[in-house]
Amino acid sequence: MSILIKNGRIITASDDYVADIYVEGEHIAAIGQSLDRAADEVIDAKGLLVFPGGIDPHVHLDMPFMGTYSSDDYETGTRAALHGGTTMVIDFILQTQGDSLYNALRTWQAKSQGKAVGDYSYHMAVTDFNESTKAELVDMVEKEGITSFKTFMAYKGALMIDDGQMVALMTEIERLGGMVTVHATNGDMIDRLIAKHRAEGKLSPLYHYLSQPEITEAEASGRFADMAYYTDVPAYIVHLTCEGALNHVRDASKRNQKVFVETCIQYLLLDASLYEKDFEGAKWVMSPPLRQKKDQETLWAGINQGLVQVVATDHCPFMWEQKNMGKDDFSKIPNGHPAIENRFELLYSEGVNKGRISLNTFAAVSSTNAAKIFGMYPRKGCIAVGSDADIVLFDPNETHTLSVDSHHMNVDYSAYEGWEVTGKVKTVLLRGQVAIDNGEVKVGPGYGQFIKRNKVSKVI
Ligand code: URP
Ligand code: ZN
Ligand code: ZN
Repeated sequence: MSILIKNGRIITASDDYVADIYVEGEHIAAIGQSLDRAADEVIDAKGLLVFPGGIDPHVHLDMPFMGTYSSDDYETGTRAALHGGTTMVIDFILQTQGDSLYNALRTWQAKSQGKAVGDYSYHMAVTDFNESTKAELVDMVEKEGITSFKTFMAYKGALMIDDGQMVALMTEIERLGGMVTVHATNGDMIDRLIAKHRAEGKLSPLYHYLSQPEITEAEASGRFADMAYYTDVPAYIVHLTCEGALNHVRDASKRNQKVFVETCIQYLLLDASLYEKDFEGAKWVMSPPLRQKKDQETLWAGINQGLVQVVATDHCPFMWEQKNMGKDDFSKIPNGHPAIENRFELLYSEGVNKGRISLNTFAAVSSTNAAKIFGMYPRKGCIAVGSDADIVLFDPNETHTLSVDSHHMNVDYSAYEGWEVTGKVKTVLLRGQVAIDNGEVKVGPGYGQFIKRNKVSKVI
């Protein structure tokens, strides 16, 4: 199968030029002006932007969490991602405390194999670091191609590890050539605030927000950066939300330490005033919570300063009925919100279209940087000869409105209901196949492949 994409404006993290792309099999075979090649299919991309397929390195599909499961599975989640221009996701395997990493890996393989529509990889969340966990790490890196290891500094009793485990894990991961990633909030402080609010009868979603003040994230981010500095391990903070946390990363950069930072689309666009809507605020109950407008400004600036390299989603959807588990107690609302389908278009519309970031920066933070940080570049994250033909054809002028009525995520509300978006995903290629064409999906469950990843480094 071959496809010739004619006259598109190709945008990568570093380039911006008009050319043709010739795709043969799963890969990009040639790029050039007026390419004269016979092809099975010719796509006219005149007037369209041509981006590397989006990579969302923070999603939770079919994840057991807070007494229920996130409502998108590998089929619905990766299909919705494709509709929104995201060709690859990285999901999180959760080790069960007291059990092995390999058992957890097998559980996640059963969820994904034969079901995924788009490409995927896993981060391994180490929730119980001990001698037998330690012995499994080498095979995760060398045999399974899982080179990033997630840690939680919160959710005590389920996912959290303490600082002793953290330093021991970091030491081992550094030796093996992997990356340690973190949910950086101070779990003990948060648990104490939750208990205090509950004891005072303060039970609405607003108190979810008030139980996780900025300082809980800032403190943990600084502590994580210090432990990573001490152990010399490549380090990445997931879903960073606020000025206080980013200031610790800025400080770390002064000693020439690179701590990679991911923020999520919601922290750039939404703020904590949504928690004042009584129980409707449950739609945005997530951890960390939405912050202040000043934090949004800090994060946009952080992208342009090179301190924030990735914009992800932390996609973790729950049906409204599931959110209602916390109707009478905010601490029982399953944490997470849906965005896997919206990230790419929202980031273009609010970022590029509104002049906050450049086209090249858009390509970098929506795709290329994640590929580089997580050991997939240049197979993924770029438009170059030899790379996987993961390509998004994008109309920068078409406007549309986000709604639960038109989205493909398996969730019965939209966190962005009624948002007017400028720019639309028109055609998506995944490994050389047209996966989405004008809103229609062309590939099925099982097309998505597990992508083994390489070792990583402290710099990109
Ligand atoms: O609220 C969130 N973020 N839910 C998913 C789990 C996590 O902490 O990333
Ligand atoms: Zn988290
Ligand atoms: Zn998450």
